[in-house]
Amino acid sequence: MKCRKCGATAVIHMRQHKLALCGEHYLTWLPEQVERFIFKYRMFTRAEKVLVAVSGGKDSLGLWDILHRLGYRTEGLYIGLGIEQNYSDESRHLSEQFAAARGLTLHVVDVEEKFGSTIPELSVISNRGHGKPCSVCGLSKRYIMNRAALEGGFDALATGHNLDDEVAVLMQNTFNWAAGYLARQAPVLPAQDGLVRKVKPLCRIYEREMTAYCLLRGIEYIYEECPHAEGSSTIYYKEILNKMEGDRPGAKLQFYLSFLQARENGLFANIKQEVELHPCERCGQPTSAPGECAWCRMWDKVKLVKRTVTANPESVPLLGLAAQA
Ligand code: AMP
Ligand code: FES
Ligand code: ZN
Ligand code: ZN
Repeated sequence: MKCRKCGATAVIHMRQHKLALCGEHYLTWLPEQVERFIFKYRMFTRAEKVLVAVSGGKDSLGLWDILHRLGYRTEGLYIGLGIEQNYSDESRHLSEQFAAARGLTLHVVDVEEKFGSTIPELSVISNRGHGKPCSVCGLSKRYIMNRAALEGGFDALATGHNLDDEVAVLMQNTFNWAAGYLARQAPVLPAQDGLVRKVKPLCRIYEREMTAYCLLRGIEYIYEECPHAEGSSTIYYKEILNKMEGDRPGAKLQFYLSFLQARENGLFANIKQEVELHPCERCGQPTSAPGECAWCRMWDKVKLVKRTVTANPESVPLLGLAAQA
């Protein structure tokens, strides 16, 4: 297979785009695509400050690399979750190494260092030992990302969700006819009542395209999945979608783009897109619950059991210990 641009040996063949490229041309093509989507969906401009949430995985580190190469004003945020089997230690190390090599600023918010408990511990206490830590983890990540972005005066928060992630969620929500979630699934969620603007610049980029990008750029990232992800419904839907993509190249992209088009045509026009929010009585972060937010209520339960918990998790500054590269 030959590169369409120069005729050299291609390193990647993207059947969905009927396009094969050599390493050099691929490394310019992918950032151009990302730039096109940032512009098309009005994610952010070069004058704005973007906080990139990095997990140490290929998508978020690849995204940060692309935004940096494109000349955007970025800083990174790594949240230390305290996941076992060396998962969090390794992903923090890789994120710090990435930032230091490029002279970029990475803010590290380690949940145990800041607040006194790891995510798996928090989960055991708040779920009384039942179930996986993923819901407590998701809640904490969303909360910390938003609070950190506001504290640092960022205009937008970017995550590394790729097309495979988006389509897996889309399929799950469609199976459940979760209309409210479908109405809110978008490349950009505008800022609203204390919620910072959230953007997904990789929403149209396939997972394998990010793997190829990181390999070609020499970006070291964590290969393993979180040990708690095993058996998750997202992985199940991704497997089904990979089978469909194998039979019909472009199936995932088409599903996603038709969904965005249907949304634009008003398929969800009757569904209220914005949840009503008000500031949490304790920490001030936006919540749809009456009174205090779920994060503050969770720490209340944990404080009853653990003495090491920071007295006021709601008021500890998050970005105070920014690791400057
Ligand atoms: P996940 O929820 O693990 O599928 O990750 C989706 C996106 O959330 C990643 O691409 C990152 O942008 C962000 N993210 C996940 N884990 C972390 C973390 N520990 N710290 C900062 N950002 C994260
Ligand atoms: Fe949160 Fe696995 S990354 S539980
Ligand atoms: Zn070429
Ligand atoms: Zn709160």
